[in-house]
Amino acid sequence: MSLDVRIGVIGLGYVGLPVAISLARKFPVIGFDVDPRRISTLRECDDWTGEIDAAELQRSTLLFADGTEDLADCNFFVVAVPTPVDDSKSPDFSLLRSACQTIGPIMQPGSIVVFESTVYPGATEEICGPELERVSGLQCGKDFKLAYSPERINPGDKERSLEQIVKIVSGQDDETLDTVASVYGSIIEAGIHRASSIKVAEAAKVLENTQRDINIALMNETSKICDLIGIPTSDVLKAAGTKWNFLKFTPGLVGGHCIGVDPYYLTSKAAQLGYHPEVILAGRRINDSMPSYVVNRILRMLAQRDIPISRAKVGIFGITFKENVPDIRNSKVADLYQTMIEYGIQPQVCDPFADPEETLREYGIALEPSDEWSDFDAVVFAVPHKPFLDDIGNLVQRATRAGSCVIDLRSMVHRPDLPHDLSYWAL
Ligand SMILES: NC(=O)c1ccc[n+]([C@@H]2O[C@H](COP(=O)([O-])OP(=O)(O)OC[C@H]3O[C@@H](n4cnc5c(N)ncnc54)[C@H](O)[C@@H]3O)[C@@H](O)[C@H]2O)c1
Repeated sequence: MSLDVRIGVIGLGYVGLPVAISLARKFPVIGFDVDPRRISTLRECDDWTGEIDAAELQRSTLLFADGTEDLADCNFFVVAVPTPVDDSKSPDFSLLRSACQTIGPIMQPGSIVVFESTVYPGATEEICGPELERVSGLQCGKDFKLAYSPERINPGDKERSLEQIVKIVSGQDDETLDTVASVYGSIIEAGIHRASSIKVAEAAKVLENTQRDINIALMNETSKICDLIGIPTSDVLKAAGTKWNFLKFTPGLVGGHCIGVDPYYLTSKAAQLGYHPEVILAGRRINDSMPSYVVNRILRMLAQRDIPISRAKVGIFGITFKENVPDIRNSKVADLYQTMIEYGIQPQVCDPFADPEETLREYGIALEPSDEWSDFDAVVFAVPHKPFLDDIGNLVQRATRAGSCVIDLRSMVHRPDLPHDLSYWAL
């Protein structure tokens, strides 16, 4: 099949930019983002998400749109805008609607619009299709077609790139599905999975992340139980992991804009249909309770060492929501920090990946280098960034003194190497 596609990618963040760069190896692609600062820095070959390096941006034929009119020649749109939840944990489709309002007025008859944003099953056809119809005056399924292809990239993971992950594709009809499968098939080396419908593809993505959330919640609950029994969770997981079908999940804080958010899309759809999920929401509650659980545990350790809480000198290693990325959105370490502040502790925080200005703006946390950190009453290893892992022994040695507490949220510290005069606690 010869593919006469001219692609417009809407939203150039962690998902949209790698997709646009990859598609631009095979097709004419123009990228659009509502944030003019994003466009101007990308034009200077600077990707602040750290996913695409400057040389690759320099080499790419990807163009950046000055305004929506630059997208007028496109006939294949890929939408990768955020799908967050609001304060009451309900899906917030405003950015998805606004992306449709960008595409609608300039969309030519015959266009295909592929959504990559994570949504609940039904959202593409029930929300995006009608919005595109409303603003374009065109008829969905006749004048333009819908498709959905969930993004499964794992930011910060240099081994599994977009091209190495099987891509799920779905379309409103067979012809659309063929075109979408051919477009993605030309860039994805791992292969294409054709879902039987758009709703199936939407459900598959939201299930992937819900499954992760629940598995981590199970590990967090197990960790609380192991703590009461007085055995190290990591030793239990090591032993259990020797069975072939034991899933390798670990306890930890679940932040970010995917794992801790997407389950609410599924539960909200279920609630619309009169079903109130129990397991999924229980997992969410456990994971959301972890920052206050950890702070509670830290307070107990300080008290056991006779360290006055309000004068405790506490250092936190890592603020981003996961390792080796600069993304601080929905950071649960920020919740941890805030809870400590409520107890009168003024923790110091370092993070080699997070942007200091953004961290100050978002959370009021002034990042500082940890080079001079010493004599801390407690240190919290929160995010397993590679530079921390590579130097963990020294970091512990430098930042602590006899009697300090070491709180290890991601099993980063090698326990046998720890001096005996430290109190150690791990999730
Ligand atoms: N980051 C991940 O790990 C990941 C993985 C798989 C799926 N997803 C999903 O992909 C979607 C995008 O996530 P992301 O992490 O790339 O978000 P992001 O915040 O990194 O990027 C989104 C970009 O879209 C832009 N934008 C917002 N509204 C816009 C609009 N109306 N028109 C044009 N641009 C607009 C923003 O300025 C931003 O640059 C979400 O639904 C997310 O759940 C994310």
